[in-house]
This record gives sequence, C-alpha cells and structure tokens, in this order.
Amino acid sequence: MPLNIDQLGGCLKLAVLLEQKPLEFLQGLSGGKITIGVSDYSEKASQKTALDEALKLKKILVRHGRSVRVVESKDAVLSTATSLYNGLSGKNERKVELIKVDDEWFRVVGVQDIDAYAKRDQARPARDTKVGMLPPKLAQILINLCGILPEGSRILDPFCGTGVVLQEALLMGYRAYGTDINERMIQYSKKNLEWLAKSKTVHSRGASSRPVATGGWRLSSPCQAPDPLELNCFQISQGDATSFKWNQPIDAVACEGYLGRPFSKIPSEVELKEQKQECGNIILGFLKNLSTQIEKDTPVTIAIPAWLREDGKYERLDLLDQISDLGYNVNNKSREGLLYHREDQVVARDILILRKK
Ligand SMILES: C[S@@+](CC[C@H](N)C(=O)[O-])C[C@H]1O[C@@H](n2cnc3c(N)ncnc32)[C@H](O)[C@@H]1O
Repeated sequence: MPLNIDQLGGCLKLAVLLEQKPLEFLQGLSGGKITIGVSDYSEKASQKTALDEALKLKKILVRHGRSVRVVESKDAVLSTATSLYNGLSGKNERKVELIKVDDEWFRVVGVQDIDAYAKRDQARPARDTKVGMLPPKLAQILINLCGILPEGSRILDPFCGTGVVLQEALLMGYRAYGTDINERMIQYSKKNLEWLAKSKTVHSRGASSRPVATGGWRLSSPCQAPDPLELNCFQISQGDATSFKWNQPIDAVACEGYLGRPFSKIPSEVELKEQKQECGNIILGFLKNLSTQIEKDTPVTIAIPAWLREDGKYERLDLLDQISDLGYNVNNKSREGLLYHREDQVVARDILILRKK
C-alpha cells in the first residue's frame, strides 16, 4: 500500500532511495528549469555542507546547459515550510529536494502539508479550549496506531469532544462513531462534521483539480463525496463511556480520553492526587465497559493524561496492570517516546496501544 504523507500525522517528509548518483538523476530530468534543494542529515552536516553539495550539482548542470535554482536554508536541512513553499514536495518533477545521509542519497516524494493541518485545526466552527484541542496530526497517529484497517472500518471515539478523531477517521476513508457524556460536545462534533462535508472542495497546496476534503484529503470509499453526511458514514450520540452500550460493529477504538483539569501551572501534590484518581477511574471504567463489547484483537489506542512535575518530568498514570486484568494486551509497555506535549505543557498525552485479549 503506498504511503500517503497526508495521513501519517507525525511524518515531516517522505523520501525514496535514489538508485543513481544525484547528478545522474538530475540530468535525467526532462527539459526546463530545475529547482533543487539539498538537506544533509549526515552526522557532521552543517548548512555549509548542504549548500556546497547543492552548488556543486548546480555548477555541473549549468555547464551542461541546464537552468538551475538552488533553494537555500539557514540549516543543514530544509524546513518543512521551506520545502513546501518552494514546491519541493515531490509533485513537480523538476522541483526536487535531495536528502543526503552520509553516502546515501534520497529524493523527497512528500512533505507534510502544514497549512492543511492548521486549517483543519483552526477553521473548524466549534472549538473549545477547555476540553483541550487534539491536533489533527495526533488524531491521525492514534488512528494509525490501530494498525492497517480495511477501508470503511468503523472507528469509535467514546470521548469524541469536538470531533477531531471523527473528522480524521472520515478523511482517511473510515466510518466514524462518536459518543461523549456532554451534550454540548455532541452538538460541537455534529457542527464540525457538517462543516467538514461542506468544505470538501478546499484544495491543498499543489493540488490542481481533484476534489478533496479540507486540507488535501480525499474522502474515499465507502464514505465518498459528494456528501458523507448523507451516506451515513458517521454516527454521534450522547453517552457515558463507563456505561454506554455502543452499536456494533466496532472495528477499532481511537480516542483521547478524559484528561482532567486544563492546568496552566504545575499542579500541587493534592491536586495531582485528586486528578490521578478522577482520570484513572474514568479510564478504567471505560475500558471495563468496552471490554465486553469488542471482539478479540480489536485495537484500542487511547491518549491518557500525564502531568508535569517540578523536576521537569511527567507523572504518568500507573494503570497497566489493571488494564491487563480488564482483558487487554498492552503493546507498548515501555511507553517510551509516546508522550506527546509541547515544551512545558502541563498536561501531556500519554499514548497507550492496546488490543483486546
Ligand atoms: C480531552 S476531551 C476530548 C477532546 C476531543 N479529542 C476533541 O477532539 O475535541 C475529553 C472528552 O471526554 C468527555 N468525557 C468526560 N468524561 C466522560 C465520560 N465518562 N464518558 C464520555 N465522555 C466523557 C468530555 O466531555 C470531553 O469532551
């Protein structure tokens, strides 16, 4: 299955190994002006090593009669924005970003569309800073961590809030099922998905005429345009995740669970204890309720809270043994690298990857 960078969430660039030397590759490009950028990811790379490589290539190409523009960077590597805004995202054959890693060279075939992500995040009509706003990128990551699912699989988010996971699931060609305890959130999710359906003609950077959903996403079968709302691709209802009886089928569960209070400064010991108790109870109550309603091997990814402490480390919820007793395998027991937060963000998201035993 070809990788689609617009659906990977955490990936900045996609590149393929060059079979030829970079010069041979560039010489093989059809006529007209060539734009090149070189990103040097080698251990001892610098802005100079990257630029020198690009200028060396340019010099030879110009000698052979080609017109060449070099995209420069302040760094050894071109930023995503520089690559994107100079058209080096792999869509135009003569606008090329080459990546060097020691002696190996790669050609960029996709760059994260930062504008599309920002639009999907910020242009939605119903937003609520108090429930925390799940970045669309992270929603994609949660869905992807469920593994490769057949198109049209039905993804449940039992803490759907304003509907970011539902939105991204629909755009990835899945069916989406959202529930939330708060009726206001249900209205927000509905409003946002109605907006999503209407804004499907917004085009992503570089896309020419293909019909896409907001931010460059194609609504794919069976939730295909013209209007996913009419095609019954999603369902949203009010419900307490610790007791609700969901409709079947549930092919996968991807969610950001209840994260507790939105702290802007480090919580006191008392506050932390109280938050750990409250969030832990809801998360375990939900997993207990869910475990009787899903089939063996159903993937469940859930972001749970972790709190910044005075020593700069994050205090995590210690629930893994209880989660195992509730009938789940925990796929990432070490959980290293799966703590998602901005620098100094007080409430981080700790991602658990589970599978029903
Ligand atoms: C961190 S927010 C999720 C935000 C969501 N990812 C979004 O895209 O906006 C957590 C959500 O869990 C909901 N919630 C809290 N307790 C719940 C429960 N027991 N059952 C279902 N939803 C609950 C809240 O109403 C809130 O919308």
